[in-house]
Amino acid sequence: MSAHKSQYIERYNTAERLNHWVTAITFILLILSGFSLFHPALFWLTNLFGGGPWTRILHPFIGVVMFGSFASLALRFWHHNILSKNDIQWLKQIPDVIQNFEDRLPEVDRYNAGQKLLFWTMIATIPTLFITGIIIWQPWFTPWFPRNVDRFAVLLHALCAFIMSTGIIVHVYAAIWVKGTMRAMVRGTVERAWVKKHHPGWYKRLEQGRDH
Ligand code: HEM
Repeated sequence: MSAHKSQYIERYNTAERLNHWVTAITFILLILSGFSLFHPALFWLTNLFGGGPWTRILHPFIGVVMFGSFASLALRFWHHNILSKNDIQWLKQIPDVIQNFEDRLPEVDRYNAGQKLLFWTMIATIPTLFITGIIIWQPWFTPWFPRNVDRFAVLLHALCAFIMSTGIIVHVYAAIWVKGTMRAMVRGTVERAWVKKHHPGWYKRLEQGRDH
């Protein structure tokens, strides 16, 4: 008789989930405070943070927390996000991905190529947001830099914020769209059937005891 297999498989431990949700919550606070300072039409959002001056004071500090939290997340997950040959093929078959023809796609490991590309987009934009944020942090750091560097930094800051938040919208959409994914970050576990269907390569490694 075969040994009983549990219905669920652990995907994230408590520390990983805590780290993820600190990053996600600070991200939402940054988007709200950042947008409220970006355009007068959105200034009303500053009410959420105790008015204009408080929003301006808090935004960079929340940014520092998010950068630190993301750095820790990135250290935990970078090695799962290296692109493989299968991933390149997966990207070439994006129409099959969109149309849910999962059986036509090359074997996906722990993460698919879309998740991996998003990870590297965050790696490129979050440190840039941090550096440009420091440069435009008046009155503390801006005077350290040559004149007009801060003007370029403001532009780059807004551009990276746009790219990153668009990426996170896709990230959240995919997390909801692929049924059974949210529980990975809420409970830490996923259903065995979810792993077999969406991550057969990872499933094989788990079966062989080769997960790391
Ligand atoms: C705001 C709401 C967010 C939701 C609902 C959400 C949801 C999720 C879910 C369900 C997973 C698990 C996916 C899987 O195991 O296949 C995940 C993974 C992950 N999330 Fe989020 N997330 C959010 C925000 C963020 C933010 C702001 C960041 C970073 C700036 C982030 C970075 C990550 C990373 C690095 C992973 C691991 C995947 C990888 O290494 O490629 N998430 N998220």
